[in-house]
Amino acid sequence: MAMDNRVTSIAILVFCSALACCNAGGVAAPQNIGQIFNVLNYGAKPGKNFDCTQAFILTWKAACNFVGPRARFFVPQGIFTVGEAVFQGPCKSQFPIYFQVAGTVQAMPDPSVYSGQGWMSFSHINGLIITGGGTIDGQGPLVWQYNDCKRNGNCVHLPASMHFNDVQHVKIKGLTYLNAMGFHMHITNSFMVSAHSLTITAPEDSPNTDGMHVSKSNSVKIARSTIRTGDDCVSLGQGATNVTVNKVICGPGHGISVGSLGKYPKEADVRGLIVKNCTLQGTDNGIRIKTYPASDPSAAAGMFFNDIVMENVKNPIIINQFYGSSSPKPSQVRISDIVYNNIRGTSATAVAISLKCSPAFTCTNLHFSNINLRPSPTAKGVFTSNCSNAHVMANGPHFPAPCK
Ligand SMILES: *[C@@H]1O[C@H](CO)[C@@H](O)[C@H](O)[C@H]1NC(C)=O
Ligand SMILES: *[C@@H]1O[C@H](CO)[C@@H](O)[C@H](O)[C@H]1NC(C)=O
Ligand SMILES: *[C@@H]1O[C@H](CO)[C@@H](O)[C@H](O)[C@H]1NC(C)=O
Repeated sequence: MAMDNRVTSIAILVFCSALACCNAGGVAAPQNIGQIFNVLNYGAKPGKNFDCTQAFILTWKAACNFVGPRARFFVPQGIFTVGEAVFQGPCKSQFPIYFQVAGTVQAMPDPSVYSGQGWMSFSHINGLIITGGGTIDGQGPLVWQYNDCKRNGNCVHLPASMHFNDVQHVKIKGLTYLNAMGFHMHITNSFMVSAHSLTITAPEDSPNTDGMHVSKSNSVKIARSTIRTGDDCVSLGQGATNVTVNKVICGPGHGISVGSLGKYPKEADVRGLIVKNCTLQGTDNGIRIKTYPASDPSAAAGMFFNDIVMENVKNPIIINQFYGSSSPKPSQVRISDIVYNNIRGTSATAVAISLKCSPAFTCTNLHFSNINLRPSPTAKGVFTSNCSNAHVMANGPHFPAPCK
């Protein structure tokens, strides 16, 4: 196929100077910018009332079919309104494809438009770089009223702003996510995904607006980001393995969460989680593991929580294996091999450490060291740890005193 004639070096230079993106030396060689596929050239128009969904999909197809290096799906400055958009691969190039948003992409605020789990879905792509400094606005305030998950345990979730299924070697960096309808980002069945320098914001009372949800994926890194939402900052579902969360600031919201696990039959294990250098501000939980009672057997094991600051967090360290159901049958999720090291700051309630493990399987190998949590003024009662069925080893300074 001949090179798309809409892609010209003039467009590249205009793009380059408009964004002042050229590196030292002034003018970047066009081959460093790559081939730009600008949504404006495929029928997109800025404005709140123009539906750009088809234009975005056509632009993606052109970029995805490009064989050379650095194909660049490009959204310029301006507000672009988009409904359900599936960006599917495999793409033709052996090089990663760029998805660059300089402007604002705004969701159509109509739940009937979305049939899948994502507003923008990326699937079957190997090599993807999502970047550009722009904003991904889910328009949540206009649709949250349709979320009935508080009343209905089997509710249908509103779509994630970005849903990733079967993607590999993905970088997401330098974007702002605002008011997702559901999760801001949902990563599943994927490998080697790294997200950094993101700002994710939704109001404290917005429903199920997790910052980042990861399941059935291996090697995921989330770093240097600020996530302030109404639900979990980062949540790991079944089959999340080798996940690192580094230098993330959370709050408000529900904190960093493993689970809920054990809701579905035969769930995959969660193994290998490193959370380090994170700060939780005014969240309901700090670092939490939660599993449903009456679950099938699975495991949540090998976690390392290091250098975590809690600021007025309600449940700084919590394991709850009695989550979300009053079934008398115990959870069969085995929790083991967890290190909590250098956890400091303030707890908004008197029970700073709560470990409620399954009577079927004691939580084993929970190592605590250098715990320095203090009550904030709202914490009423004796400042304490409260545990059941937890096998705890503690060393170094420890306040409140560890569970026996
Ligand atoms: C997680 O990483 C470790 C070390 O690199 C590796 O041995 C293990 O296989 C990985 N886990 C999975 C499920 O791939
Ligand atoms: C946290 O950050 C500080 C300062 O950058 C660094 O010295 C420390 O090693 C980090 N902790 C971890 C567990 O990476
Ligand atoms: C500790 O947990 C038990 C239930 O597991 C509860 O009955 C008790 O009130 C808790 N203690 C405190 C101080 O919260």
